Amino acid sequence: MPDAGARPVLKREIGLFGATALGIGAIIGSGIFIVTGIVAGIAGPAMVFSIIIAGIIAVFSAMSIAELGAYLPEEGGTYAYAQKLISPFAGFIAGWIWIFSNIFVGAAVSLGFAHYFVTLFPAVPVKIIAIGICLLFLVINYIGLKESVLFNNLLVTAKVLILLFFVAFGLGFFRPGNFTPFAPEGSMGILSGAALIFFAYTGFARVTIMAEEVKHPEKTIPRSIYLALGISTVIYLLVSIVAVGLAGAPALANSGSPLADAVGMTGSPGAVLVIALGAMIATASVLLTTIMGISRIVFSMARSQDLPSLFERIHPRFSTPHYAIVITGACMIAAILLADLTLVVAVSTFAMLLYYLIANIAALRLPQEHRMYSPLVPIIGVLSCLGLIIFLNPDSWIIGCIGLLIGGTWFIFRRKTTR
Ligand code: ALA
Repeated sequence: MPDAGARPVLKREIGLFGATALGIGAIIGSGIFIVTGIVAGIAGPAMVFSIIIAGIIAVFSAMSIAELGAYLPEEGGTYAYAQKLISPFAGFIAGWIWIFSNIFVGAAVSLGFAHYFVTLFPAVPVKIIAIGICLLFLVINYIGLKESVLFNNLLVTAKVLILLFFVAFGLGFFRPGNFTPFAPEGSMGILSGAALIFFAYTGFARVTIMAEEVKHPEKTIPRSIYLALGISTVIYLLVSIVAVGLAGAPALANSGSPLADAVGMTGSPGAVLVIALGAMIATASVLLTTIMGISRIVFSMARSQDLPSLFERIHPRFSTPHYAIVITGACMIAAILLADLTLVVAVSTFAMLLYYLIANIAALRLPQEHRMYSPLVPIIGVLSCLGLIIFLNPDSWIIGCIGLLIGGTWFIFRRKTTR
């Protein structure tokens, strides 16, 4: 427990396995289990190309964030990098937009969990389940990091195994004919699909948000980012190919639980049950790391006086930023109540692309001696984030810009009142 009046310190407890699991925990969730259905409708079987394009775009931002994380292993991720390398305002906006995006991620995965839950127990209303799971994971985060990291490792192992089961089991029922016509909507369909499925990759930088809790951060952070992204990409490709091979793109597009429906083509109710459970585990695991991540960035921003000081207080018994966890949860529950799944996915992706854009700009400003890669990497990172935003639904731009406006106004107000 920190001394009264001293800068609160978090414990370094996370190794390479835990850090990679944090990344995979944040990455594999509603994206592969639910958004693939929507993307199948937009791109057809060519959704496989959408997944590859989104993955390549994620790699450039991941490389920028990996070199930033190695240079500045401080709690807060791009919030800290942009503050130091661009300006306090850019840092604030990065932190703010990250929180904004992840509140919507939390809502999306809670709703995703609930949609799969009701396929097994149809009597319960979706929103009640979504709020219930959100509350449960708030309590787990409140109780403490160690318990959360252990629990996350378990959830991540389970969801990876279940997706591998989907691939292995589904391959036996694969129908190559499902891949024609391959790209019914042409390149526009593929690119719009890539913008939406980018949601499935967000979360690869989660470990940087908790960098002060990572052992040997200069090495662990870059390695864990590449491992998490690499493992997730391979799984996404295999799963999407098998899903199309099993059910065909039109059937996936018409489903709220596409992977369960795809495996249902094998005629095995047991396999459907396993996949539905896998979806619930995956979305719950994203929810766990999302709440952890948001509460840590709120903590960091409060410590830098960008948010009220209440949020930097650490619980005397559990050593967690408990006020930050409570406010995070309240916002997520509000988003669950007010929006639907498609909207929360689009808004969250818009905001996260802006966040990665700021990270790439910060990476461009790294001192030469701390660069791990050519400056071309962040330049391509900036351009590709902007390129993907263009293909997102304009509703998500509007809501995202309103979020930015609220954050910018708060920043100006705080500056005036603290002078
Ligand atoms: N990438 C995360 C998911 O797919 C947000 O659920």
